[in-house]
Amino acid sequence: MTVEQERIISLTKVLNQHNYNYYVLSNPTISDFEFDKMLEELTDLEKRFPEFRQPDSPTLRVGSDISNEFKTVAHDYRMLSLGNTYSEGEITEFYNRIVKEIEQKPEIICELKFDGASISVKYENGQFVRAVTRGDGEKGDDVTENIRTVKSIPLSINSAELPDKFEIRGEIIMPHKSFDALNAERIEIGDTPFANCRNATSGSIKLINPKEVAKRGLDCYFYYMMGRNLPAKTHYECMQVLRRAGFKISDHVKLCHSLQEIFDFIHYWDTERRNLPFDIDGIVLKVNSYAQQEMLGFTAKNPRWAIAYKFKAEQVSTRLLSIDYQVGRTGAITPVANLEPVQLAGTIVKRASLHNADQIALLDIRVGDMVYVEKGGEIIPKIVGVESHDVFSEKTQFITKCPECGAELVRVEGEAKHFCPNSNNCPPQIKGKIEHFVSRKAMNIETIGEETVALMYDAGLVHNIADLYDLTKEQVMKLDRMADKSAENIIKGIESSKQVPFERVVYALGIRHVGETMAKKLAFALKDIETLSNATVEQLIAVGDIGEVIAQSIVDYFANDENVKIVARLIDAGLQFKVKEQEKLSSSLDGLSVIISGTFTHYSRDEIKKVIELHGGKNVSSISKNTDLFVTGENIGPAKLEKATKLNIKMVDEDEFRRMIGVSDQSMNDLLSDIAENISGYRENHINNDNDTYRLAE
Ligand code: IVH
Repeated sequence: MTVEQERIISLTKVLNQHNYNYYVLSNPTISDFEFDKMLEELTDLEKRFPEFRQPDSPTLRVGSDISNEFKTVAHDYRMLSLGNTYSEGEITEFYNRIVKEIEQKPEIICELKFDGASISVKYENGQFVRAVTRGDGEKGDDVTENIRTVKSIPLSINSAELPDKFEIRGEIIMPHKSFDALNAERIEIGDTPFANCRNATSGSIKLINPKEVAKRGLDCYFYYMMGRNLPAKTHYECMQVLRRAGFKISDHVKLCHSLQEIFDFIHYWDTERRNLPFDIDGIVLKVNSYAQQEMLGFTAKNPRWAIAYKFKAEQVSTRLLSIDYQVGRTGAITPVANLEPVQLAGTIVKRASLHNADQIALLDIRVGDMVYVEKGGEIIPKIVGVESHDVFSEKTQFITKCPECGAELVRVEGEAKHFCPNSNNCPPQIKGKIEHFVSRKAMNIETIGEETVALMYDAGLVHNIADLYDLTKEQVMKLDRMADKSAENIIKGIESSKQVPFERVVYALGIRHVGETMAKKLAFALKDIETLSNATVEQLIAVGDIGEVIAQSIVDYFANDENVKIVARLIDAGLQFKVKEQEKLSSSLDGLSVIISGTFTHYSRDEIKKVIELHGGKNVSSISKNTDLFVTGENIGPAKLEKATKLNIKMVDEDEFRRMIGVSDQSMNDLLSDIAENISGYRENHINNDNDTYRLAE
């Protein structure tokens, strides 16, 4: 076998593995730059030695993100990607080629290259009708209902400048703020956090439940319009038309008339991108004139009138001094690298993520090595490879015992992380559980913070969450630097937590994988702790939107004797272990039989039904002469409409309905959080505390 043949085989294998990590697992383990470098090498080798190309070569296919849960639909217009480069030389070549082909200097529009998931959205007669992922470029997943939840995408537009039917493309992104909140919540409930905003975005748009998607704080920028009757002669003008029609179009664009201007834009954003509230991974250059675009045409995969310049993820090498193993609240073990301090992307980096045991083994990372640290889109720097091994270095042996309590670690089949199973006796797990219990979204005992939890634990006052309810002021006062007033407030805080509603108590228990939403779902479906603690996996799954892993985790929690004892003590202490029936909000729909149809801008169908009940109305599912009110959404069925007209039933659209129930003066965000709070019975106790949970990203 020749050296080249060997290299082709090995590159194919490695790249296929990375493609799998990226597309299937949504968990890339190398940077785009390294991936693209290897792919380029393989493409080049295959060109020179076509006889050695492997049948499964990654160059033969475009990665696909089609999953089974969504209907696969064909794109009306193929969704091409852009040729990309990391080299300024290739940008010059691109520019010169265009000058030669169109025989004049082009106007080039430079745009940000958003790092999210691309989407194609169709509008017909001013209405948003369909949204499809890129998929393999020919066909993608129909994610209409999920994309509908992205608040920056208009559901209807009114523009005389746009054709009746058109399709536009853009990028769904997750701003840093949403990303941080999402990951904080995932870590809190023991789920693996997303590695970067791009993965979090693609994961979010493929969620089964659109309601969950709505909470992810996604956003969308549009950057390309297709079709025959485009409303302008240049890309720039066309984007302005779209902006006027209500689409979110980036301001950060520049019309460039020379290569120098293009490079100035690229260099500016290479640094300035750190100040953006979302990730970009490069700059896109497009020929502005549609006539010139047409002259230049397309290759099989890419437009010849556009190119993407990709930023190199900032990378430095430094020495790995040691590895710490952190134990989280749920017992998850996270290896963290201690590094020789090094300057990277404007900050000094001393610690970096090492992910998990597999990653350490795959990259053969050893203490003493010179390692590459990278800060790409990610907020936390990570180690992406080894520059050189230290001569005396030894292979890293992942720990087998918990560094905090000594318990033998376990690794659940299919999970990358190791866990300490000693959940009720391992100090960081105990402290973490108590911190979670008192936290704002759980029992909201504001007077107890992380420090107080540590003090109480170290003094032997609390060993679990139930111990909190046995505390006396005298005991608390003995703690280090504890004033009389503070001790009193702590006891008061604990006392008033006894009124926190059941759904938040369920969340506060800290059952693995049970986040806020899941806790509410469980509380409202099962009503009390008796039913919840006795539910089987099957019964839990039947609640809906609860998968096997979560159901099993709940069953495991209540199968643990110690947990059962803790819950029993909490019941004795007088916490709320039964769901409260809701109070009515108004009598505006009293006695009315109401039917809804279509989709609504401000509510999901479940939400509007709940709102109807809260205002005294009764939901009915079919139209009859006894129906009093027909609330019409978008895309209502023609049969229903005809019947309602025939029976002379009062019809109101969503705005009119909102006026009827007296909420039209409120801003959309306030309204949404109100509904969410009312639905989950939050109103009485926590009207000001939890708004941000439901407040959608701007
Ligand atoms: S234009 C036919 N503009 O980068 C050209 N793409 O392969 C259509 N992207 O799949 C794409 N920002 O997901 C364009 N300002 C921008 C972009 C952009 C991000 C993404 C898009 C595309 C990929 C390039």
